[in-house]
Amino acid sequence: MSRSLAAWDKAKREGRKLTMVTAYDVTAARLAEAAGIDALLIGDSLGMVVGGEADTLRVTLDQMEYHTGIVARTVTKPLVMADLPFGSFEESPAQAFAACARLLKAGAQIVKLEGGATMVETIAFLSRRAVPVCAHIGLTPQHVRQIGGFKRQGKTPEAAAQLLEDALALADAGARMLLMEAIPSELAAEITAKLPIPTIGIGAGPGTNAQVLVLHDVLGLNPGNAPSFAKTYLDGAGLITKALAEYAREVREGVFPAK
Ligand code: KIV
Repeated sequence: MSRSLAAWDKAKREGRKLTMVTAYDVTAARLAEAAGIDALLIGDSLGMVVGGEADTLRVTLDQMEYHTGIVARTVTKPLVMADLPFGSFEESPAQAFAACARLLKAGAQIVKLEGGATMVETIAFLSRRAVPVCAHIGLTPQHVRQIGGFKRQGKTPEAAAQLLEDALALADAGARMLLMEAIPSELAAEITAKLPIPTIGIGAGPGTNAQVLVLHDVLGLNPGNAPSFAKTYLDGAGLITKALAEYAREVREGVFPAK
């Protein structure tokens, strides 16, 4: 799988499923690339997963640029997508372009921004200026204060119709991909069928072209904090804690280091 956007369009046409996980550092990026993951997301979930914050709102563009640079320099095969953090793009298309330029220069191949119809003008502006954009709709964590929590979206017929309308408008404006978070499976599948661009789902059922999960959820590194829709494939926290306890025991008992 090539990391180009054209390869993603082709995979959609051919009905091949694509995979993405978050990566914020060299270790994660190396492991995901070795596992054959198709794309890495330097998500602003960084603030919660690495920073232990309650939401993503305090993540800065400087932090996203720094972590994007690390991941982009580490891998050659996966596509690299970076999030525009809250406050770095909403004021104007020009503000968004300046922020995107920093993430693209850091090595991202595509930037992701949260928002529906309100972002149409910005996405049109960016796509005319050679910035590939993935629009993120449904549960948009940067809007958590307005939504009143990390809640599933698109549950009423009106809300579902609005998401479909937003998705079509965003693709029309030039979005190259659409990420849908925590929306009903049937709606995500309908949007995927109606859009010419690849869709990525998280908590949106099996009908999207690609799936994304937070790496720490996949590996069981943050037990108790993973959303209900995530699947954990490893007891990472258990295994690592056991290894560290073994190391501590050996040091205390004089077993390690050996003479
Ligand atoms: O920031 C992030 O990691 C994300 C994913 C959860 C989709 O946006």
